[in-house]
Amino acid sequence: MKRLTVPAIQRRKFEGNTSEPLVMLTAYTARQAQLLDPHCDMLLVGDSLGQVIYGLPSTLAVTLDMMIAHGAAVVRGSYHSLVLVDMPFGSYEASPQQAFASASRVMAETGCAAVKLEGGAAMADTISFLSQRGIPVMAHIGLTPQAVNALGGYGARGKSQQEHAKIMADARAVAQAGAFAMVLEGVMEELAVAITDSVDVPVIGIGASVHCDGQVLVTEDMLGMFERVPRFVKRYDNIAETIGNAAQHYAQDVRNRLFPTEDQVYRPKN
Ligand code: KIV
Ligand code: NA
Repeated sequence: MKRLTVPAIQRRKFEGNTSEPLVMLTAYTARQAQLLDPHCDMLLVGDSLGQVIYGLPSTLAVTLDMMIAHGAAVVRGSYHSLVLVDMPFGSYEASPQQAFASASRVMAETGCAAVKLEGGAAMADTISFLSQRGIPVMAHIGLTPQAVNALGGYGARGKSQQEHAKIMADARAVAQAGAFAMVLEGVMEELAVAITDSVDVPVIGIGASVHCDGQVLVTEDMLGMFERVPRFVKRYDNIAETIGNAAQHYAQDVRNRLFPTEDQVYRPKN
């Protein structure tokens, strides 16, 4: 199976009458990527790794080096899905030139196929600058976690008419600027429908209803690794419980000298 390409992903929006939704999950490690890869179209090395892997309070302290280390691991662990890497806070907002310097490092040092960056109309020039220079960009609009301090929290967006109009304008601006797709996060269903209908690139939803051209979730959220998750997360498993139970069982065995057993011990053969 050949790796999916940016044009192949882009075409999916208009394939057939009822084109199949695109499937995207986050991945941060090689083994995780290996397990998710056969089931996905795209693997996102999200800056959510700040909270999920590093225990940071938000994505703001995530660095380019962190994204590159995990991006390279995910590329090594996958061969089918298109891998894209998040541009971390502070690595791209200052100018198109700054964004190009950072994004070209990400592309060269990880082998990923595209980058994702947060922001709508304000990032249009940057998206166009990168796209025209061989760096495919996925935009991320609606609830943009790197702007948590400006937004005042992680609540759903697009509730007021003003906000609805702003996010719609963002969607149009990033599509116009050449983004090959966009993530639409945490918005009212009505807005998700309107945006998906009005742009000609795939809209990948997270907390944006079933009407988008694809869906993404943070893998650890959908696996049930965390107690507190946003309303838009569906838990497909309870990995926290599985890991906790295994650790408890192991601890018990060690304390009772029930591990290691005959099966795990080295002895001279005779
Ligand atoms: O960082 C991330 O995981 C993301 C997805 C939730 C879209 O940006
Ligand atoms: Na992100």
